[in-house]
Amino acid sequence: MMKDLVWSIAVLGALLPTSGTLTAAEEMPRIIHKQGRHALLVEGEPYLILGAQMNNSSAWPRLLPAVWPASEAIHANTLEAPAYWEQMEPTEGTFYFSNVDALVQESRQHEVHLILLWFGVWKNGSMHYAPEWVKDDLQRFPRMKDAHGREMDILSVHSKATLASDSAAFAALMQHLRVIDGERHTVLMVQVENESGAWNTDRDYSEAAQEAFDGAVPRELATALGAKSGTWRQVFGEQAEASFSAYNAARFIEAVAAAGKAEFPLPLYANAALYDPATAAPKAGRDYPSGAPVPVEFAIWKFVAKSIDLLAPDIYMRDNGCLRTLNNYARTDNPLAIVEMSNDPYCAKYFFPVLGHGGIAFAPFGVDYTGYENYPLGAQNTSDESLAGFAANFRLIQPIQRAVARLNFEGHLETSVKELNARSQTLNFGDWQATVSFGLPQFGATGNPPGNPGTDGRALVAQLGPNEFLVTGIGARVESARTDAGSKQFEYTRVDEIDISNPDAPPLRRWNGDQTDYGLNFTRVPRILRIKLATC
Ligand code: DGJ
Repeated sequence: MMKDLVWSIAVLGALLPTSGTLTAAEEMPRIIHKQGRHALLVEGEPYLILGAQMNNSSAWPRLLPAVWPASEAIHANTLEAPAYWEQMEPTEGTFYFSNVDALVQESRQHEVHLILLWFGVWKNGSMHYAPEWVKDDLQRFPRMKDAHGREMDILSVHSKATLASDSAAFAALMQHLRVIDGERHTVLMVQVENESGAWNTDRDYSEAAQEAFDGAVPRELATALGAKSGTWRQVFGEQAEASFSAYNAARFIEAVAAAGKAEFPLPLYANAALYDPATAAPKAGRDYPSGAPVPVEFAIWKFVAKSIDLLAPDIYMRDNGCLRTLNNYARTDNPLAIVEMSNDPYCAKYFFPVLGHGGIAFAPFGVDYTGYENYPLGAQNTSDESLAGFAANFRLIQPIQRAVARLNFEGHLETSVKELNARSQTLNFGDWQATVSFGLPQFGATGNPPGNPGTDGRALVAQLGPNEFLVTGIGARVESARTDAGSKQFEYTRVDEIDISNPDAPPLRRWNGDQTDYGLNFTRVPRILRIKLATC
């Protein structure tokens, strides 16, 4: 394994040679898996999405001039933009792709990739992006009903007409992408719906839904979950409503996704509004949208939605809430992709633990200068200043993103982030350890100052060979040691600083003296080191 990774400077280059008979540009983006780890292949090689998601109403051609400066300010390599059903199909069966075309064309001009978010039947547990001809026809496109029989602001998924219309529109979008992007692959992935599920009800109580709820759980679902057959109540007990909703939302999204994939098989994903992982018994409709792909519904979603490549959490939590969510979604059967993260400056540091959990994507939300702020979920005034932490991440990692994605896929990368009340953390690499400390000065080894004041420290260490590592970070000190330090000491054979403006060039300089005597100290200045250690 290690010999695969014998480091050559080319490994750090932005583009690696492609394999197979297809030319790089013709190869479809796809997600691959190995030993429980995952990678997004773009042009045949692992790729790390350094994303920027615009505000909900910014994906209009005349708004894009206010989007690009923010995306560029954070050094994004991928723009995330909604594709609106209401704009695409204003009259039934007639499609207009002008918004999508502008997004694809301008992404190419700005040399970034694109992720499209299909705002169809669901947008944040409601139906606001459905076209007027859907909204106005309550007979053909029935609404959900709550337990009191009141019609809700959300379409019932127990309607063949609704499924047929949403699927046809999504398939039309994917077919169009095949035509305009089948060779270039500007578009890397597509999100199917946005934050599916329903708030304020534990399930749909419309007549069709009630009939289904009173019937039997599909035998194959019961079998897959290791349960005996029976009604939803018999099989799931108190979770009957939640499980029923998850099954039906997943089934609907699976059908929409499958219709799209049949036209153009891009990676597809579904995102979730979350409950706080500290919630003891999260309740559908109260703590999360009933039906959403949240951890308590994973088994159902994974069984039903086979055309969905991954389930993605939308993270607006800090500290334990954020870190536990990463644990919940980074699974052997689920690639971690943080395609929507609060753009609160505090959250920038979570880019590193996302990488540490094997993440293939990280994208703050609300990255544009249209003047809209989702404060207090995100920043108060989105600007180059508020985005500086996100920019620092991507500025640092963008030059080596291919290498980082590859090392992560191979299982050789660990990260550390400043957690509440924590001063340091140890990362383990067999014979070697790296201790990451936060809030220390660059000079001096006289112990920790009280409280280690920094809150945004983060670091990354990746093993390149038996004694060689790639090390970088922001606001952190990284110190190496033998795992068996009691009996053996270490020394640096060399500490080379990579030229981040051209990682393939010879090292910028070698660190020694003060720069290594007190550990490897990373400030706000972007620096990446390649180090070699020896036992002495
Ligand atoms: C999560 C949704 O996915 C986004 O589209 C947006 O509505 C945010 N919530 C809130 O700004």
